Amino acid sequence: MDRVALLGLSRLCALWAAVLALFPCGAQGNWMWLGIASFGVPEKLGCANLPLNSRQKELCKRKPYLLPSIREGARLGIQECRSQFRHERWNCQVSTAAPPGTSPLFGYELSSGTKETAFIYAVMAAGLVHSVTRSCSAGNMTECSCDTTLQNGGSASEGWHWGGCSDDVQYGMWFSRKFLDFPTRNTTGKENKVLLAMNLHNNEAGRQAVAKLMSVDCRCHGVSGSCAVKTCWKTMSSFEKIGHLLKDKYENSVQVSDRIKRKMRRREKDQKKEPIRKDDLLYINKSPNYCVEDKKLGIPGTQGRECNRTSEGADGCNLLCCGRGYNTHVVRHVERCECKFIWCCYVRCRRCESMTDVHTCK
Ligand SMILES: *[C@@H]1O[C@H](CO)[C@@H](O)[C@H](O)[C@H]1NC(C)=O
Ligand SMILES: *[C@@H]1O[C@H](CO)[C@@H](O)[C@H](O)[C@H]1NC(C)=O
Ligand SMILES: *[C@@H]1O[C@H](CO)[C@@H](O)[C@H](O)[C@H]1NC(C)=O
Repeated sequence: MDRVALLGLSRLCALWAAVLALFPCGAQGNWMWLGIASFGVPEKLGCANLPLNSRQKELCKRKPYLLPSIREGARLGIQECRSQFRHERWNCQVSTAAPPGTSPLFGYELSSGTKETAFIYAVMAAGLVHSVTRSCSAGNMTECSCDTTLQNGGSASEGWHWGGCSDDVQYGMWFSRKFLDFPTRNTTGKENKVLLAMNLHNNEAGRQAVAKLMSVDCRCHGVSGSCAVKTCWKTMSSFEKIGHLLKDKYENSVQVSDRIKRKMRRREKDQKKEPIRKDDLLYINKSPNYCVEDKKLGIPGTQGRECNRTSEGADGCNLLCCGRGYNTHVVRHVERCECKFIWCCYVRCRRCESMTDVHTCK
């Protein structure tokens, strides 16, 4: 069962190329592992030669069979981030302008403590849970498998029972925590400590999103589809759905105080008492507007981005171009059209030309 078969091949290739091109910068800390997305077969290189920090290398040596899932998790997370943000000023794009050595995959956003940082951490941690769990369910792992606690359960009176393979996220959650949740750098400054707490919280929020979106699928049995008996199993949602939920969390994310306290607190004075939920996304710093290029921060700006002249949303030229206006050029499309089936057996088409206006931000 391929629940994440949602990629067009071309998009996949484009992503691949982007990751490949951008990985070689001096990635550091927690984020190096995302570079694994660019290795076709990471197993061949061996744990020591992969972009992992020392703890991850240790874990990798003990469980090398998890490498394909790690790579797949990184790929899922990156792709979903790009997809969720494709119409926004910050489009989860890697900045090519960032000075080498300062910018791992996502540049500034990884350490800026903004809502964007929060989303990246959450979606990556979730990607890892998703890919590891899928591998467990596929029977590829000895340490985990389908959820066996459900076997023989169900409700005879309602005419269903548990069967098939229920996804068991527990192992994936455990592995994602083990692989991602640890202090990265020497955390001396107060800024660093709060940032670390924020990142760990958001990792967990990402994992919780996978757990929360577990659903139940059933298949009917019985004479000619009468559905007298049903077999049901628990299944993770598609990663796209998880991405949507996290995007929603991003839009409602909570700003926390940058003071070190025993617990993190909301920054807003009148909301300080309101508890923080473990599935909330947290941030410390307000985001820049992402409008103009900032080489120092690795922000590419929106100049040259394609916008939609009639849309009122984030992808509309007004918002996306930050009021700078846009250029319009005409693009000629040639396609096959008025196709007719000719007996027997071929299809004859005409070539049709059309012109479309493409708008890009000034
Ligand atoms: C399980 O292993 C097979 C063979 O190595 C591989 O082709 C498949 O993609 C794996 N499935 C998952 C979900 O990891
Ligand atoms: C923290 O920094 C000190 C000195 O800069 C170094 O000796 C130590 O190994 C570092 N610890 C970690 C976990 O990187
Ligand atoms: C532009 O936005 C309008 C209104 O939201 C929408 O109907 C249209 O499909 C969009 N065009 C493109 C090319 O995305």
